[in-house]
Amino acid sequence: MSSSNPLRDPADRRLPRIAGPSGLVIFGVTGDLSRKKLMPAVYDLANRGLLPPGFSLVGFARRDWEHEDFAQVVHNAVKEHSRTPFREEVWQQLIQGMRFVQGTFDDDDAFERLRGTIEELDKAQGTGGNFAFYLSVPPKSFPVVIQQLKKHGLADQSSGSWRRAVIEKPFGHDLRSAEELNAIVHEVFGSDQVFRIDHYLGKETVQNILALRFANTMFEPIWNRSYVDHVQITMAEDIGIGGRAGYYDGIGAARDVIQNHLLQLLALTAMEEPASFDADALAAEKTKVLGAVRLPRDAGVPFYLRTGKRLGRRVTEIAVVFQRAPHSPFDTTATEELGSNAIVIRVQPDEGVTVRFGSKVPGTSMEIRDVSMDFAYGESFTESSPEAYERLILDVLLGDANLFPRTEEVELSWKILDPIERYWDEHGTPAQYPAGTWGPVEADDMLERDGRSWRRP
Ligand code: BG6
Repeated sequence: MSSSNPLRDPADRRLPRIAGPSGLVIFGVTGDLSRKKLMPAVYDLANRGLLPPGFSLVGFARRDWEHEDFAQVVHNAVKEHSRTPFREEVWQQLIQGMRFVQGTFDDDDAFERLRGTIEELDKAQGTGGNFAFYLSVPPKSFPVVIQQLKKHGLADQSSGSWRRAVIEKPFGHDLRSAEELNAIVHEVFGSDQVFRIDHYLGKETVQNILALRFANTMFEPIWNRSYVDHVQITMAEDIGIGGRAGYYDGIGAARDVIQNHLLQLLALTAMEEPASFDADALAAEKTKVLGAVRLPRDAGVPFYLRTGKRLGRRVTEIAVVFQRAPHSPFDTTATEELGSNAIVIRVQPDEGVTVRFGSKVPGTSMEIRDVSMDFAYGESFTESSPEAYERLILDVLLGDANLFPRTEEVELSWKILDPIERYWDEHGTPAQYPAGTWGPVEADDMLERDGRSWRRP
């Protein structure tokens, strides 16, 4: 750490989490993701003292911008979307390392200019040759950018510095295309250089699944097929597709969020305890789960997944629903209002965990009704949760791969989805539903056939 860094207290628990000399190059810097998430996340990290003093941010795009125009765009994005307060002194430091490279992805001169910019930053900002390349670009552009990085020596780590590729989803549109893309990526970057983004893994509440399950003794003993009846994973959004109709119509909801976010939630919910939280150990357990998912359900514990835009409410949750008690000493009238016990991991927006169970209603007779115990982040912690992209960008700079899906996980997830997509191609996709409702009746029918029903969060 440089002596100019104000964080000198050796007891400061952020110390091991401060990135070393480095920079980030964003391809697709004019896109929504970059403006709403990536640029604000970089600022928030700087504001929290987690970036090195000479940290550099390079934008690459077709626009005819000077460095100052790019800095102004970042400034606006930060003012509008960053999580932490704007501080002029942080901004003034950050702006020192901002550069813009104008060009298209097939433009060799532009990639040479990028190489020159990185060399210049190494001298001016002390970035030490350590750069992450963030591909926030349409999937069709992944191969050309990756190949250009190779061609212009930008993926080369032989001088002892590191080079990493950060790849946004969608990673392919089926198993075959994902395999092809993996082959292209790995021709240029080693597996420890590739960071595939699934921003759900960067969410605090998603990381908390591991804490809840493996740091406590009261949940895990019943977290198995002897006690769990089924699991419901809901990712409901109230927003529509906005300006993304082209992207969304081309891929649909399942490719957009089930192949990645929901299957990762499934894997974290169903996996066995890893030997450690080492990236390899975690990936090994998630891979076992993804490889064991079967369609249609047989005798195992069913996992029901649902997602959609313009639903009744924005809510993402995992509900682990338990079997009924095997023997009830109560009159049936006493338990008429008793539902199934459940542990609900509230991923967002009301972050926390709910445990639902039955309790006697005060009075002269035995009547049992559902009650719940709630843990809410807002009430239990004074610390606010970082944005997913803050955590993930920092982990890329630290070379920490725990929260990034591996090649095998991506491919196994497509293996699960492909037959469903094929079925929809042949038989039509699920029926439409009116905006603001909880989706098509087919979704309710599916659970009803199994004698179950969806929660209404
Ligand atoms: C993205 C999807 O990965 O996740 C979007 O492409 C979706 O369609 C978004 O809206 C939801 O993210 P979050 O963090 O708001 O739940």
